[in-house]
Amino acid sequence: MSYFEYNDVVAGYTKEMDIIQGISFSLEKNSRIALIGANGGGKSTIMKTISGILPIRSGSIMFQGEKLSTLRPHEIVARGVIQVPEEGGTFPSLSIEENLDISCSRKEAKEHSRQNKELVFELFPVLKEKARQAAGSLSGGQRKMLSIGKAIMAQPEILLLDDISMGLAPKVVEDLYHTLKNLVDQLDKPVLVVEQIMEVALQFADYGHVIQQGRIVLSGKSEDLLESEEARQSYIGG
Ligand SMILES: Nc1ncnc2c1ncn2[C@@H]1O[C@H](COP(=O)(O)OP(=O)(O)O)[C@@H](O)[C@H]1O
Ligand SMILES: [Mg+2]
Repeated sequence: MSYFEYNDVVAGYTKEMDIIQGISFSLEKNSRIALIGANGGGKSTIMKTISGILPIRSGSIMFQGEKLSTLRPHEIVARGVIQVPEEGGTFPSLSIEENLDISCSRKEAKEHSRQNKELVFELFPVLKEKARQAAGSLSGGQRKMLSIGKAIMAQPEILLLDDISMGLAPKVVEDLYHTLKNLVDQLDKPVLVVEQIMEVALQFADYGHVIQQGRIVLSGKSEDLLESEEARQSYIGG
């Protein structure tokens, strides 16, 4: 059994339609996996099923041998399954530091809050400079940094990031992924990135799955997918 398993999951929003149509993938303790694919393919829907916001219709989601797919969202977070959501995730009227502090609800997070905050401020110095300012005053890229910082503060056992590039300039995206690489080396936990931009995701991850219309259409080592004409085509076909 793998550390994290997404087993033949089917899920959707309305009775008439399955958005996720039997997807399977897994992560080992040291995995960095990317789910890539064009907009509308179902990537965020997968993330919602993992966080427990969207119930699954069949299949199972397992983490460390325990079934996640019958747990509630707060119970899933309590196990250290921590997401950086595609949108939101920060509280604009609270200060940056308050945003970080309220993410320490897990017992394990409270115990490590000092070191974790130091790590966040080291990775994202601008958050330290602006610690007392309202999160609403940050730029889009800085808000994404804060959202990642909040996930670090939650002391993840597995970290999931949903399209962190969304709405950001290419240079900002490149910097974010560079820092993320740094972060993950220090965290030493498995990471699942979901990403529209194939190149940045595959440069970060070891292994990728291409998602198209709620199915995995291609899987492979990142270096192979980056070279693969089939991957590019399946992507464009999205
Ligand atoms: N809350 C929702 N209600 C109904 N349909 C939705 C909802 N969210 C997403 N969808 C639909 O599910 C499909 C997959 O969306 P999504 O998972 O957000 O894709 P991605 O993250 O890959 O862009 C799309 O067709 C989208 O319109
Ligand atoms: Mg999405």
